Amino acid sequence: MDMQGTVDAIADAMAGETDRGAVARYIPELAKVDPARFGIAVATADGGLYAAGDARVPFSIQSVSKVFTLALALGQRGDALWRRVGREPSGHAFNSILQLEHEAGLPRNPFINAGALVVTDTILEGHQPREVLGELLRFVRAASGDEAIHIDEAVAASEQRTGHRNTALAEFMAAHGNMVNPVALTCGTYFHQCAIEMTCVQLALAGRFLVGAGDGPHLVAPPRMRRILALMMTCGHYDASGDFAYRVGLPGKSGVGGGILVIAPGRASVAVWSPGLNRNGNSALGTRAVERLARETGWSVFE
Ligand code: DON
Repeated sequence: MDMQGTVDAIADAMAGETDRGAVARYIPELAKVDPARFGIAVATADGGLYAAGDARVPFSIQSVSKVFTLALALGQRGDALWRRVGREPSGHAFNSILQLEHEAGLPRNPFINAGALVVTDTILEGHQPREVLGELLRFVRAASGDEAIHIDEAVAASEQRTGHRNTALAEFMAAHGNMVNPVALTCGTYFHQCAIEMTCVQLALAGRFLVGAGDGPHLVAPPRMRRILALMMTCGHYDASGDFAYRVGLPGKSGVGGGILVIAPGRASVAVWSPGLNRNGNSALGTRAVERLARETGWSVFE
């Protein structure tokens, strides 16, 4: 199949779309991003790299970072992590506090904000935020083979100033004994992990550690990889995870910066970016683009 032709055609089609969703505004720095952007990159298990549109323009990966911190936390703690966070889809918005009250401070899964805060709190235990962020960057740089990947300090500071909801989630969990570190340290680390800046090309390359075939970096053992993918499939798009599975049929993780990392097991790692979001906070065009890619490649896991 002509993969370059496929991604070129998808980028062309997306350039003509008018219904592009709305850029996230609750983090002021993200509101400045041009909604006309669209990028796609596919890194295949056989070493191919296919990119189109704004695939080399950096964007804020935001919640896509939760995949990398989950891999680190599972590496450090193994199954003990599941004493502090669940593995079920939430059916609620990514930043909801509602369920947390009903379920006594135990977040449903590691990808909603409350769960990701617990994951970050876990890897922070016994360390300084600087050390944890250093380790996270080392992981992402090793996964992508690109040492240039860094944190956008302006985005981190912007979220730090406006992160009241996340602070509330963390304080609420602290009240239930599910925060080990001072809330300010865990939230500060989390805001910085979300502010990692990457291009679609870098993110697609980084995702190869979850493809499980070919020459990709071996950072996670296959049994753990399968579990991370299961969580991406069931929880990676919050209360739209079912819709994403229905439309795309692949595990994916979205971020409010408009990026989505999608894994076609054994075949490829795909990154798309378009900053306009749908009402669930997932990239509107990004979802449409990977839906089309999955259809044209036959890569759905249900195919
Ligand atoms: O915590 C937040 O609200 C953001 N730093 C990340 C949220 C996010 O990316 C949700 N994704 N679609």
